[in-house]
Amino acid sequence: MNKSITILGIESSCDETSASIICDGKILSNIVSSQKVHSLYGGVVPELASRAHQKNILPIVQMALDDAKIEKNNLTAISAAIGPGLMGSLLVGLNFAKSFAYALGIPFISVNHMEAHIYSNFIDEPVPEFPFLNLTISGGHTQLVLMKKDFEYEILGETIDDATGEAFDKVAKMLGLGYPGGPMIDKIAKNGNEEKIKFPRPMIDTDDYKFSFSGVKTSVLYFLRDNKIIPPIEENLLKDICASFQKSIVDVLIAKTFKAAEKYQIKNIAIAGGVSANSRIRNQFKIECEKRNYKLFIPQISYCTDNAAMISVVGYRKYLSGFTSALTSTAHPYLELSNL
Ligand code: KG4
Ligand code: ZN
Repeated sequence: MNKSITILGIESSCDETSASIICDGKILSNIVSSQKVHSLYGGVVPELASRAHQKNILPIVQMALDDAKIEKNNLTAISAAIGPGLMGSLLVGLNFAKSFAYALGIPFISVNHMEAHIYSNFIDEPVPEFPFLNLTISGGHTQLVLMKKDFEYEILGETIDDATGEAFDKVAKMLGLGYPGGPMIDKIAKNGNEEKIKFPRPMIDTDDYKFSFSGVKTSVLYFLRDNKIIPPIEENLLKDICASFQKSIVDVLIAKTFKAAEKYQIKNIAIAGGVSANSRIRNQFKIECEKRNYKLFIPQISYCTDNAAMISVVGYRKYLSGFTSALTSTAHPYLELSNL
C-alpha cells in the first residue's frame, strides 16, 4: 500500500495565525485564530501581530494536529507562507515551519500567500479546469491572474492604488464602523438601496485590466462632507451608503473580469481572497456567469479570508510536483507571484 502524503500548512502573513493538515488532498483540519487586539486601533498593528503570532503558533499547530488526529511523526512535509505580508508576522510562521521540518527531518515547502488564495479554489470539488481566470480580492491585493497551467501565473492587471479590501476597510472607518470593515459593510448593505447614491466606477471602461479604488473611497468621503453627515449615521442612510458603495465595487470587478474572460476566451472563472466572502460579490458573479454561460468557482467562506488550508493545499500540490524549498528560505514582504 502507498504511504499517505500528509502536509502541515502554516499561515501567519497578517493578523491570522492558522495551521492546517491535508492528507492525500483532503483537508483534515484548519484552525484559524484571528487576533482581536487590532480592532482597538482600527487596523492591524504589525508589532502586536508578530507578538500574537509568537504566542499562538505552537498551540494552533498542536490543535491542527489533534483535530486531524495526526501525530507529528506522520507528517510528510511542512509548508508555510513566506510572503507577501508583514515581515515580523511572516517570520514567526516561516521560522516555526523550518525548525519543525528540520527537527522532524522532513522537507519544507515555501508558499506565496497570493498563490495560496488562488489555490483555495482547489480545496473542494469541483476544481477549476486550466486555463482559468482568477480574480483575487483581498485586503492587500487586487489581481486578475490568467492560469494557463498548474503554478503558471500571468498577471493581467492589478490595482494601481487601494486594494479592494482596503477600500472596504477605509470606507467602513469613515462610516464609523469598526475594523475589519468589509464584513460589516456586507451585512449592513443587505437591506440598502444600491441605486440610491451614484458613486463612481473608476477605470471601468479602460482598455486594460487595471483597477483603481481610491476614487470610490474619496467620493464616499466627499458625499459625507457635502451632506454634513457625521457618524453615527442614521440607519437607513447608512444602509444605502453601504449598498451603493458596494455596488460600485461589484460593477467594476464584474466588468474587468468578463472583459478579460472574453479577450482570452476563458470559460472558467474563479474568485478568491477575503473580499470574495462578500455576499453581494458572490451573488453577482453567480448571476453573471449563469447568464453568460461561464463556469464559476468560489471557495467556501472559511477558505476566502486568510487560512492555512490554502497553504497546505499548495504544499501538497507542490510536493506532488517534486518541489521542496531550502531551509535558508527567507520571508519577503513584497513577494511577487512567480512560476514554479
Ligand atoms: O484575504 P484576507 O483575509 O487578507 C489579506 O490577504 O489581505 O482579506 C482581508 C480583507 C479585509 O479587507 C476584509 O475587510 C475583507 O477581506 N473582507 C470582506 C468581507 N470579509 C472580509 N470584504 C467585504 N465583504 C466581506 N464579507
Ligand atoms: Zn490573504
